[in-house]
Amino acid sequence: MDVVPQEMEETLDAVPNVEMVISLGRATASEARDIWRVTRIAYAPYKGIIKPTFGALRVTEKAIRYQIRTGKYIYLVARHEGRVVGTLRCRKRGRYLGLSRLAVLPDYQRHGIGRRLMEWAEDEARRLGLRRLRGEVRAVMPDLLRYYRRMGYRPIGRRSRKGYPGYLIIVQKRL
Ligand SMILES: CC(C)(COP(=O)(O)OP(=O)(O)OC[C@H]1O[C@@H](n2cnc3c(N)ncnc32)[C@H](O)[C@@H]1OP(=O)(O)O)[C@@H](O)C(=O)NCCC(=O)NCCS
Repeated sequence: MDVVPQEMEETLDAVPNVEMVISLGRATASEARDIWRVTRIAYAPYKGIIKPTFGALRVTEKAIRYQIRTGKYIYLVARHEGRVVGTLRCRKRGRYLGLSRLAVLPDYQRHGIGRRLMEWAEDEARRLGLRRLRGEVRAVMPDLLRYYRRMGYRPIGRRSRKGYPGYLIIVQKRL
């Protein structure tokens, strides 16, 4: 298994009756392809259904590698047997940590990996001296808003785009 700084291991109840060891950590640029793959697969069900299209469905491996190399974004990853199965992108934006592109491979969903990535982001925020985290949820996806609410996030505003008034709900958590 890859060893990265601040690595942490957790055992989860997993795919029927099998114990699964998931390690969480910051991604290296060499994992850009895995992150791209997980993101594309996780967001694929929204393709052509949720509009405007998710940036997650347009992203390239090259862009992810660039973002990691330059330190523009921190990508947190969840690995199973060294393979990336979940990811979350973070960026320091002024006084808060911006979260985006949360994605878990379908076969690994509903085992708490998304939640653990979100908890890791809170630790990351604390390390950066930040007391707030923000994410964005599509207004047409109330289940996801509930998902964020259960983790302590509250809606603080909306964002619009031409032809899509108020399509994004901004959610925030205070630590
Ligand atoms: C959203 C996503 C990352 C969740 O990952 P996950 O590892 O399955 O999440 P968890 O197992 O930590 O789920 C935690 C809780 O949320 C619930 N939950 C999980 N996915 C959910 C979803 N898509 N909608 C509503 N609730 C969901 C779970 O039932 C669980 O609740 P519980 O703890 O009360 O049982 C995953 O479904 C995914 O990759 N979806 C596609 C991409 C996406 O929608 N990203 C978010 C965009 S804002």
